[in-house]
Amino acid sequence: MTSKAETPLEIFLNRHDDEAWRETLAELSPAIHEVDRAATRIWFYFFPLALLRAFEQAEDPHALARELLMQGKWFLKDQVDSSHTFLYGHRLWPEVKRAVARAAEATDATAGRTLGEVVRDVAREVAAARGVDESLATGIAAVGLMTLQQVGLAEFRRTPGEVLIDRRHARRTPEDILRGRARDDGQGLFGFLRTADKRWTVVWDENADDRRFRALDLQEVASGAATDKRPWHEQDPRCTTGEGPIPVQCRSASCGTCWVGALGGAEKLTGVERRERKMMPLFGYIETDETHPLIRLSCQARARGAVSVVIPPWNGYFGKYLKRRGEGAAEEAGEAVASS
Ligand code: FES
Repeated sequence: MTSKAETPLEIFLNRHDDEAWRETLAELSPAIHEVDRAATRIWFYFFPLALLRAFEQAEDPHALARELLMQGKWFLKDQVDSSHTFLYGHRLWPEVKRAVARAAEATDATAGRTLGEVVRDVAREVAAARGVDESLATGIAAVGLMTLQQVGLAEFRRTPGEVLIDRRHARRTPEDILRGRARDDGQGLFGFLRTADKRWTVVWDENADDRRFRALDLQEVASGAATDKRPWHEQDPRCTTGEGPIPVQCRSASCGTCWVGALGGAEKLTGVERRERKMMPLFGYIETDETHPLIRLSCQARARGAVSVVIPPWNGYFGKYLKRRGEGAAEEAGEAVASS
């Protein structure tokens, strides 16, 4: 598997690694509508370029998948139109695809531009085509460009570019969605007297009304999910029969299976404790000192209020591998300099 940078836009994008994208997203953050500010960052955690490159450079990708304990769908080429249904901007995906493909065909779309400016150029075109505020198109424009970078123009064009959520949910406004995320469960007339039997709603797909469960106050999110006995394993083979919609294995922060993104209410989950903090960089999902980051292990994060989460389509254990490879490459470069 090799990546081909055939167009000037792809060549330009390929000069940017995950770190450059993270810096660009931080710079763009005020320009992204609140409804997609966290969702855009979460999407970039779900689809790191470094993981794709590791597979492209592997002599035997199947052996690497086994070594990294990969499960689910981690290649973007298999989910060009569906990886971002949790962004509000997914509603603008047909226009984003057209604008990104047009930029890829142009010879001068990136001349003198920074990555952030290229994202905003695409967002501006999409916003004008749909008559919406540019802030609603900025996050999904970044997603569109990263998708092109990872899959190449031919694969990017291959799928129809449809909106994959139903019409009723597609009609929801950003304000509706933000209101929904901000709402906490009432605990009844004497709710203030309740302690351990308070219950919180955890939504895990904002585009379907039945994709939610209740967690007891201070219950681990994954344990709350396990009370939902519907056959979710029929939709995601990573799920265990009768264990709910979030895939789990160890329940002790050892396997990395249960990671989720907190779209809304990250601060209503208990803070990251020592074991989760230690393991997250080893899994490769996130490395941060934040107490309430957007990426969590749902077997560790406990609910203190209603939250909205998103379940990534895959899990693995790749952070340690990438670090080791990075150190190996740095050593080789050092030896080459020393012997020259
Ligand atoms: S289930 Fe293994 S880390 Fe959460």
